[in-house]
Amino acid sequence: MKQKILITSALPYANGPLHFGHIAGAYLPGDCHARYQRFKGRDVLYICGSDEYGIAITLSAEMEGRTPKEQVDLYHKINSDFFRQLNFSFDHYSRTTWKGHAGPVQQFFRELLENGYIEEKVTDQLYSEEDGRFLADRYVVGECPSCGYDPARGDECPKCGASYDAIQLKNPRSKLTGSSLSLKKTKHWFLLLEKFREPLLEWIETKNWKPNVINFIRGYIKNLHPRAITRDMTWGIPVPLPDTDGKVLYVWFDAPIGYISSSMEWAQDIGKPDKWKDYWCDADTKLIHFLGKDNIPFHAAIFPAMIMGQNQPYKLVDDVPANEFYNLEGHKFSKSEGWTIDLEDFFSKYTADQIRYAIAANAPETTDSEFTWKDFQSRCNAELLGKYGNLVNRVMVFASKQCDGKIPSLGVLESEDQAFLERLKELTEQVDECYAQYRLRAACHLIMEIAQEGNVYFNSRRPWVQAKENRDKMFTTIRCCVECLKLLALVSAPIIPETAQKIWQMLGISSKLSEQSWDDVKSMELPDNQVLGKPEILFRKIEDTEIAQELEKLAKMTKKVKQSGEIKLEPLKPSITFDEFTKLDLRVGQVVAAEAVPKSKKLLKLQVDIGHEIRTVVSGISQFYKPEELVGKKVVFVANLKPTKLMGIESQGMVLAGSQGDLLELPAAEALPPGSVVS
Ligand code: 2FM
Ligand code: ZN
Repeated sequence: MKQKILITSALPYANGPLHFGHIAGAYLPGDCHARYQRFKGRDVLYICGSDEYGIAITLSAEMEGRTPKEQVDLYHKINSDFFRQLNFSFDHYSRTTWKGHAGPVQQFFRELLENGYIEEKVTDQLYSEEDGRFLADRYVVGECPSCGYDPARGDECPKCGASYDAIQLKNPRSKLTGSSLSLKKTKHWFLLLEKFREPLLEWIETKNWKPNVINFIRGYIKNLHPRAITRDMTWGIPVPLPDTDGKVLYVWFDAPIGYISSSMEWAQDIGKPDKWKDYWCDADTKLIHFLGKDNIPFHAAIFPAMIMGQNQPYKLVDDVPANEFYNLEGHKFSKSEGWTIDLEDFFSKYTADQIRYAIAANAPETTDSEFTWKDFQSRCNAELLGKYGNLVNRVMVFASKQCDGKIPSLGVLESEDQAFLERLKELTEQVDECYAQYRLRAACHLIMEIAQEGNVYFNSRRPWVQAKENRDKMFTTIRCCVECLKLLALVSAPIIPETAQKIWQMLGISSKLSEQSWDDVKSMELPDNQVLGKPEILFRKIEDTEIAQELEKLAKMTKKVKQSGEIKLEPLKPSITFDEFTKLDLRVGQVVAAEAVPKSKKLLKLQVDIGHEIRTVVSGISQFYKPEELVGKKVVFVANLKPTKLMGIESQGMVLAGSQGDLLELPAAEALPPGSVVS
C-alpha cells in the first residue's frame, strides 16, 4: 500500500493580501514537499484554506469599512488567486466559514467538555456601554499600568514592552470609537491545558523535530495553563451549549480543525464523502504541518492536546517543519508601511517559477532570511538563466542542428562520460534526500550543481569539435547531456514546475511530468531517435535598470505612506459667507489633451472640455500625472477664474487638486458629463 501523507499549510487569515513573506514560511515549503511526495509515489492529500473567524477579521473589516463576511469573501478570493498564480498544488483550499466546518469544531468542544478538559469560569472583561458589547484586547487602548504611556495597546505596551491583561489598563477606551469602557462579569470556557502537560511531554520526546521547534515547544508545554477558548462576539462558531447567545469559540480553537473540515469538503467534492477518514483516522498516515515559527505553539502543543482530549481517532501531527521569518530588504513586509511588492506589477514582469526559485534558494529554514531585489536578480540571471537555462538551451540547439532534432543513441562510454553520468546519479539522490528533509535551500544548490556539471561536461567534450572528428562520440556526448536535462527537469520540478514541464516537452515527451514517478523518471531510458521539441528560451535576463527601478519604487512607496502618516495640516482659513462661496463657478471638466510645458518640471498644458467650450489651462501636476494618464479624465474645474499667463501660456481657469506633503490627487467626478455644476 502507498504511504499516505497528509500535508497542511497554516490557514491564512482572510483579512488582507498575502505576500512573499508568508509564502516563504508556510506555503512554498508545503507545496514543494507535496509535489515531491507525489513524485515519490506517495498518496498525498495537501490541504489549506482561509482562516475566516476571529478578531483579526472583525477588526480589519471594521477598519476597512466592510462587514466581516464581505471582508473574508474579498480576501479569500484574492489569496486563492495568488496561490493559483504561484502554481500551488493544494488538493483542496477551503474556508472556515464553510458550513461543514462548524460540526467537527463543536464536536471537539462537546467531547473535551464531557471528558473534563473544559471548564466554565466567570471573569471580568472590558465592556462598552456605547457599543453594547465586550471588547477584545485588540479593540482596547489605555494607559500602560507599568509606565503610564498612553495610548498603550490592550495586551502590550509599545513603549516599555510590558505585557498585561487589558483589564489592568488605566482609563481603558475603545480603539475604534474612543468611548470609555467599564468592567463587567462574563462567563467563558477554558481549555485545561495543564492536564495535557505530561502526555504532551512524553509524546514530543518520540519526535525528531527541528531543534528550534523541539526546544521551544518543550519549554512551552511545561508552562501550559488554562486558556479561554470562547469570546464575547458574534462572528465565529457558536458555543454549542444552551443560553450562550453572543458567545463564540475562539478562532484558534476552530482554525486547526479547519484542516479536518477542509479534508471533509474535499472528500465531498470528489464524491467520496468518507475518504477524508483514510487520512485523518489512519495511524499509518504521516501528518505534516507547514507553518511559520509564530504558529508553533498551536500546532505542536495546543491542537495535539485538543486531539488527545476528544474521542475521534484523529492523527496527531508527525512533523512540524516550522520556518523562520522572511523579510523584504532588511525589514518586515508591511503593506501599511508601503514596504511591500505590488503583486500585479510583479507578475506582469516576472514568472511564478522565478519567485518560487528565489524564495526556495534562500528559504528561512534555520534563520530569518530576506527577499532583496539584487538577490532575486542574481538568482534569476546567474543561476536560472546562466546555469540552468543556458545548459538546456545549448544542448537543445546543438541537438536540433547536429542530431537532426532527435535523441541520439549512446555509443561507447569513455571514462569522462561515465564519471559524468555517475555524478548525475549521485547528485539526484542527494536532491531526493534534501526534499525528504525539507531542505529546499540545499536542493536548489544541488540543482544548480547538476546544471553546472552539465555545462562543464559540454565544454570539456566539445561536441562541436567531435561533430567534425567523430560523430558517434558527439552523439554520445549529446545523449549524456539529454540525460542530464531529464534529471534536471525531475529534480527541479517540485520547485519550478512550469519550467520543468517545458524541458520535459522539449525532450519530446507528451505526458505530464507531474504525473510520472521519481524512480521511473530516474531510471527511464529515453528512446533513441525520439523527436525533440523546439528549443525554447526558459528565462529572460533581468537588467540592472529594472532592479534599480524596483528599488526606487519601493523607496517611493514607503516615503508616500510615511508622509501620508505624518500629516501636517494647514490652519483653517477665516469663514466666508455662502454668497461668497457661490461666486465660484465650479464645473466638471474632461481633459481632452495634455502635454508637458517645455522647460518646466512641474507644469502641464491641458485642454479641458467644460461643456460650453474647451479651455486651456496650465497646471502644476506633472510630477504626479503623466500627460497620457490624464487624457479622458474628468476633473473639477474653476471656470470663472480670471485668465493669467504662466510660462507664456494663457491659463483660462484652474483644475482642482488635493495635496498633502509630497502627495497630490485630482478629485474625480467620473460619472458626470463635462459642464455639470459642482457645488
Ligand atoms: O497565523 C495565522 O495566519 C493563522 N491564521 C494560522 C492558522 S493555522 C491553523 F490553525 F489553521
Ligand atoms: Zn508601558
